[in-house]
Amino acid sequence: MAQYNGRSEQKRTRLADVIPVNTPFVFGFFTGDICNFKCKYCIQASLNSGIELQDEFLDWSTFIEVADSLKRFPNRIKKVLFSSMGEPLLNKNLPKMIAYLNANDVADAYEIVTNASVLTHELSRQLIDAGLTRLCVSIQGITDQKYLDICQAKVKFANIVDELSYFYNYIKKNNKNCAVHIKTVDIALDDGEEKRFKEIFDGICDTLFIDNVVPSYPGIDYSEMCNDNIGLYGKGTIERKVCPSVFYTLYVLPNGDVVTCCDPPYPIILGNIKDESLIDMWNGKRREEFLRMQLQGNRHKHPVCQRCIQPNITDFKEDDLDEVAEILLKKI
Ligand SMILES: C[S@@+](CC[C@H](N)C(=O)[O-])C[C@H]1O[C@@H](n2cnc3c(N)ncnc32)[C@H](O)[C@@H]1O
Ligand code: SF4
Repeated sequence: MAQYNGRSEQKRTRLADVIPVNTPFVFGFFTGDICNFKCKYCIQASLNSGIELQDEFLDWSTFIEVADSLKRFPNRIKKVLFSSMGEPLLNKNLPKMIAYLNANDVADAYEIVTNASVLTHELSRQLIDAGLTRLCVSIQGITDQKYLDICQAKVKFANIVDELSYFYNYIKKNNKNCAVHIKTVDIALDDGEEKRFKEIFDGICDTLFIDNVVPSYPGIDYSEMCNDNIGLYGKGTIERKVCPSVFYTLYVLPNGDVVTCCDPPYPIILGNIKDESLIDMWNGKRREEFLRMQLQGNRHKHPVCQRCIQPNITDFKEDDLDEVAEILLKKI
């Protein structure tokens, strides 16, 4: 039976104990900001966000430069994540990318966040055989009509369920080490559909969860979709002074720019992979000054960080840095 759980890891490191972190815990490949959906709460539906998405796929040569650069960190990456402001499965090189990283022993885990709409039996086999260790699927309703309402996309919901069923059974039949997480958002379920959502996916995933929509992006009217004081996992938001994730994450965008954050607008571009190695960016002055700004309690004065809700919407106690910021300032 699938567990009702939104967290992706069993045990989380207490961040304050390990700063400065010498190797990113999480490294994200932004595979391309191109999507076949326009979910109404997502940046893809924003008309006047002022944010420029990168309408290109992460290409193979940029990928290889980044992958090889990742090997220069002293430790293995804990998790490589394939996501973006678009749909990762639209990038045709995805199975090959996972296989390459896996063959080179770059990370402990490889995860994709996907709407699963273009999943096929063949693609499922390729991803699992390449060494994928977690598929995180974003479901946008449990009827074709709800997909149309939420994503403005014509989708056969039954097909998505069939493909996910094949995916899960292929893992089990072949004894592969890949977890499946299925999530949806609260606004994609009508009253009484929560039980049905759980029943549909119970036998074909390991964990499932209903996230809350949060007001992530400019240019979208969230007033009917969410409450500002409720976080992604349904609990109250936390007003954090220091943003924790920038101390352990790094992402590469399709054009090779390297950033600290998962959502645009990005507060800082550390450099471009064509000019500099990841480890030099990770240990460089730009990142150090950015982390210092966080620890000095100046997040709310930074033009981008002051508007960002990311630090406030998750409630991982292990990530709290506010109380130890002064001590950490002496360590970085
Ligand atoms: C931006 S999408 C990209 C990957 C892929 N296209 C997908 O839908 O899974 C990543 C995840 O962010 C979630 N998301 C996007 N905007 C959100 C918001 N405002 N509130 C909560 N979750 C959001 C989506 O539901 C999805 O699970
Ligand atoms: S499928 Fe993912 S990226 Fe595309 S619009 Fe929906 S949430 Fe955004």
